[in-house]
Amino acid sequence: MFNTKLVTLNRHILEEQTAFPDAKGDFTSLMMDLTLAFKIISREVNKAGLVEILGATDEENIQGETVMKLDAFAQDRIFKAMDHGGILCCMASEEVEHIIPIPPKFTKGNYILVFDPLDGSSNIDKNVSIGTIFGVFRRVTPAGDGKLEDVLQQGCKQVAAGYVVYGSSTILVYSTGSGVHGFTLDPSVGEFLLSHPDIRIPHKGKSYSVNEGNFNTWDEGTKAYVQHLKEVDKETQRPYGLRYIGSLVADFHRNLLTGGVFLYPSNCTDPKNPKPKLRLVYEANPLAFLVEAAGGKASTGTQRILDVQPTALHQRVPLVIGSTYDVDQYCQFLARQQAGAPI
Ligand code: AHG
Ligand code: MN
Ligand code: MN
Repeated sequence: MFNTKLVTLNRHILEEQTAFPDAKGDFTSLMMDLTLAFKIISREVNKAGLVEILGATDEENIQGETVMKLDAFAQDRIFKAMDHGGILCCMASEEVEHIIPIPPKFTKGNYILVFDPLDGSSNIDKNVSIGTIFGVFRRVTPAGDGKLEDVLQQGCKQVAAGYVVYGSSTILVYSTGSGVHGFTLDPSVGEFLLSHPDIRIPHKGKSYSVNEGNFNTWDEGTKAYVQHLKEVDKETQRPYGLRYIGSLVADFHRNLLTGGVFLYPSNCTDPKNPKPKLRLVYEANPLAFLVEAAGGKASTGTQRILDVQPTALHQRVPLVIGSTYDVDQYCQFLARQQAGAPI
């Protein structure tokens, strides 16, 4: 039997909508269109081994990465679900170099959608959890086609954000800033049903998520912090556990539910030219919006993620995100390193 009263995503958003008297149902329409795309992507992911959707295309994206067939499929499904609803004035995607205009024949709306259509692409053919990440802004330019400045807004200006994990089940987690809620897809009826109401991230975690293989590329503060996590924690009398899936969205989701910290520091082998990997606009910002709404934190190590002013669509940032205690402690290690204090 279901463990919660049957609340569909549609019903939940309509109830949330009443909290926004000036809302004209635009956000409800946006989420309905978006969740249709998620259901279709979930269906393809769940039979990926049986249909010709695995493997790579012969294309390379703006990131210089080989585009996997499922990357392209997810990109295409989201674009086609969102281009005609009259809610958006433009979109931006990890897979597309420039902002994506709404086709001339369709009405332009007042919202912007930024998204990573398929996160964790390296895991696609290995049956490991992957996902989709999205953020929503209100436009800052007057009517008509959206512009780059509509997309390059600080993450704190998002009006909503969310992600989907295509895993043992398909779960959608979203927030409009007041509360974070999880919905599990019941494929037999094609509905996302409320399964995780009011998610709050524990103040302190017991695990950390990082690619330890990059240890030699890290700055000294990060090295010292990760070494510290391996010592016995006074409270739990044991070191932190290491949990790393290699799909940001899946690692984030686990930490959101159980507490913990995810970090992807810059590659600092050339200290004058630190190279972060994760993208600000459609990876770090939406998850930072969610983690703060759930009582956690997200930082570059020196700056709140949601305060970073984007200057380029695909710009990358160092990311530490999760339980407040753990993010704060990491930032203290970096601060001591930068102050030249013993770390
Ligand atoms: P994407 O598949 O959208 O390019 O994102 C992959 C990202 C993120 O999902 C994950 O946390 C990280 O790449 C893993 O990177 P490493 O393989 O370098 O650890
Ligand atoms: Mn990604
Ligand atoms: Mn991606």
